[in-house]
Amino acid sequence: MAKKKKMAAEIEFPVIELKELIKEYGTDETCIRALDEINLTIQKGEFVAIMGPSGCGKTTLLNIIGLLDSASGGQYALDGRPVDDLSSRERAGIRGNRIGFVFQSFNLVPRLNVIENVALPLNYKRGFRYNKLRKASKILKTFELQEREYYMPHQLSGGQVQRVAIARALVNDPSIILADEPTGNLDSKSSELIMNELRDIHRRGNTIVMVTHNPDLTSYASRIIQMRDGRIARDSARKKTSEKKERKRALNSYLQNAVENAQPVEDVA
Ligand SMILES: Nc1ncnc2c1ncn2[C@@H]1O[C@H](COP(=O)(O)OP(=O)(O)OP(=O)(O)O)[C@@H](O)[C@H]1O
Ligand SMILES: [Mg+2]
Repeated sequence: MAKKKKMAAEIEFPVIELKELIKEYGTDETCIRALDEINLTIQKGEFVAIMGPSGCGKTTLLNIIGLLDSASGGQYALDGRPVDDLSSRERAGIRGNRIGFVFQSFNLVPRLNVIENVALPLNYKRGFRYNKLRKASKILKTFELQEREYYMPHQLSGGQVQRVAIARALVNDPSIILADEPTGNLDSKSSELIMNELRDIHRRGNTIVMVTHNPDLTSYASRIIQMRDGRIARDSARKKTSEKKERKRALNSYLQNAVENAQPVEDVA
């Protein structure tokens, strides 16, 4: 009996399992089918990149996976549990504790400074305020924003706002990260900071689903999904690059940054 119980506990469900998932917007004549019978299983610890032309349903898919929206048909099980069974309170709890959203459109609270904005998701948890601010400060440092902790959002550049929003999405150590073009408007150095952070989170065993239009960024992923017209057109595992290749890629990108950010040198002759 005890053995049976142990075996049941050892069964690992996929983190995300979608079966013939449909999402339709509008009614009758105006109806648009944004997702058309999607079948997709994502295991714990995968780093999935989703690509595809504008309007093919990528954001719609992320919104449903992140419980921000509901499907019109089909099934979605999160950790083996059908999401239709969840109450709105349970959905909010999962969104707050387990899922980190890295969306470009996520705005900061204008009346709070940078560090308070980043610490916001921690306010729903118990613990001392000092420890929460320390955690927020630590992640801001990762994004090279430690000197902006006490700035107000309107005193930041667009790219800095985006990095603060991403720090806020990750401060909670979420186990599922949903990223919608996380580096869309950023320069290559800021993009690198964000991608390296996502890679570290992935290496710690978390699951990442990232939408991107940039084929270079798929090198961080373990699996690439191509969408077309609300369907999955291709689903392929990316070949593992060796440590050596990865170091070479990182070095090349560092050199490219250095060249892009180089200041003209005065003639010393
Ligand atoms: N709230 C909505 N009401 C009606 N139609 C919508 C709504 N949201 C999305 N759509 C439609 O659903 C389809 C998929 O949209 P979605 O935003 O998922 O595309 P996407 O792949 O993320 O595109 P992009 O790369 O441009 O961000 C589009 O045809 C879009 O017009
Ligand atoms: Mg989109």
